[in-house]
Amino acid sequence: MKQLNRREFLKLGALVAGGAALASCAPAAPAPVPAAPAAPAATAAPKAAAPAAAAANKKLEIFSWWTSGGEIEALNALLDPFAKKYPGIEVVNSAIAGGTSSGGDMKAVLQTRMMGGDPPESFQVHLGGELLGSYVAANTMEPLDALYKEEGWDKIFPKSLIDIASKDGKPYSVPVNIHRSNMMWYNKKMLDDIGAKPPKTWDEFFQIADKLKAKGIPALAVAESSAGFAAHVFETVLIANMGPEKFAGLFNGTTKWDDPAIKTSLEMYKKILSYANPDYLSVGWGDVNDLMINGKVAMMIMGDWTPGVLWSKGFKDFGWQAAPGNEGIFQMLSDSFGLPKNVKNREAALNFLRIVGSKDGQDAFNPPKGSIPARTDADMSKYSDYQKWAMDEWKKDKIIPSIVHGAAAPVAFMTDYMNAVNVFATKKDVDQTAAAILKAAKDAGLQK
Ligand code: GAL
Repeated sequence: MKQLNRREFLKLGALVAGGAALASCAPAAPAPVPAAPAAPAATAAPKAAAPAAAAANKKLEIFSWWTSGGEIEALNALLDPFAKKYPGIEVVNSAIAGGTSSGGDMKAVLQTRMMGGDPPESFQVHLGGELLGSYVAANTMEPLDALYKEEGWDKIFPKSLIDIASKDGKPYSVPVNIHRSNMMWYNKKMLDDIGAKPPKTWDEFFQIADKLKAKGIPALAVAESSAGFAAHVFETVLIANMGPEKFAGLFNGTTKWDDPAIKTSLEMYKKILSYANPDYLSVGWGDVNDLMINGKVAMMIMGDWTPGVLWSKGFKDFGWQAAPGNEGIFQMLSDSFGLPKNVKNREAALNFLRIVGSKDGQDAFNPPKGSIPARTDADMSKYSDYQKWAMDEWKKDKIIPSIVHGAAAPVAFMTDYMNAVNVFATKKDVDQTAAAILKAAKDAGLQK
């Protein structure tokens, strides 16, 4: 069977029409099933390799990109109970930091392992286009419908999440949380000092940003030493200019990728970036929170893993609200874990997934992470004020999917989109970036 190279593997996403649109919409259209990357059958290992195979059978290896404050505590809240319950199994936490804001370095290593037929027992993957358009489309994952039934998850996870975990009616991973990406975080004291309230619109943002500028303070923290962060922020500008239906329409074919709002948003983004920390091209994702904590930059637009990082650094004097122009719109993503085909220790993998989907697992994982549980039966007493607010918003807001965090589109589009905005962050060329985004959408089959 033909081995796929990394680009081909990612490009499989283009075969899935639509990815996830509104989280409440129908699942992505079924993709033609491409050839699976050749994976040696577990039983085909040569005799000489038997001791190594036996050792591997005692391991549970988990991939993720959770290496920051909040993320580490949350991941341990899933791995520790497993280690206690199954003492004979060595838990290998293969978390890989770095790359883009959504796990670029981990995804590169994972794809090499998957293509080589050596998958970890389970790995962090976003529900939606990232799961279905890449790993499931490549036929590298096991369906989990039996496990869902057995654990009663078909009744306890919201249907909208099960839909974006599913292809042909079968779920392929277990959601552990729901994150919101279109959020603004701000240093309370810094806004108080200039008598400002957090901006609800981009016009208000520009007024506050000018006041801060007069004091020599950049308004917005941006970290674009590698692609991802700027693309994340740009999504919120697109949403503010398009509204939720039109934004979601980019992924179900009802909005064109050369819609005038894309250029309008890029023009606006040019202005927004002029109020960012001037060194943003050399600031890394891991360092950006400190800019706000240390009073160097007043506001930041990032997903709600941010409170997890801020809490872990002991910083409490921050506030939150939707990104400007994003009120009442919940841009979602969900971290999940799936079961690759041909893992060495399938039983341990299934047991780990049981913990991921359990009430105890989710109510231990989510409080330090900043996210809300995927399950609908949370023990509210365990959650912060922010999370109680987010649970409420999740129930009443319009739900749309995130691009950078895998919900809206396959990895191939996400990567091209992030790179296009990364070039924009340097060159500020509106026409060139609009053309690059349109090409990415066409390459990924999001537009003819
Ligand atoms: C997201 C992920 C979150 C969080 C964040 C920062 O893509 O879903 O769980 O970890 O990246 O790495």
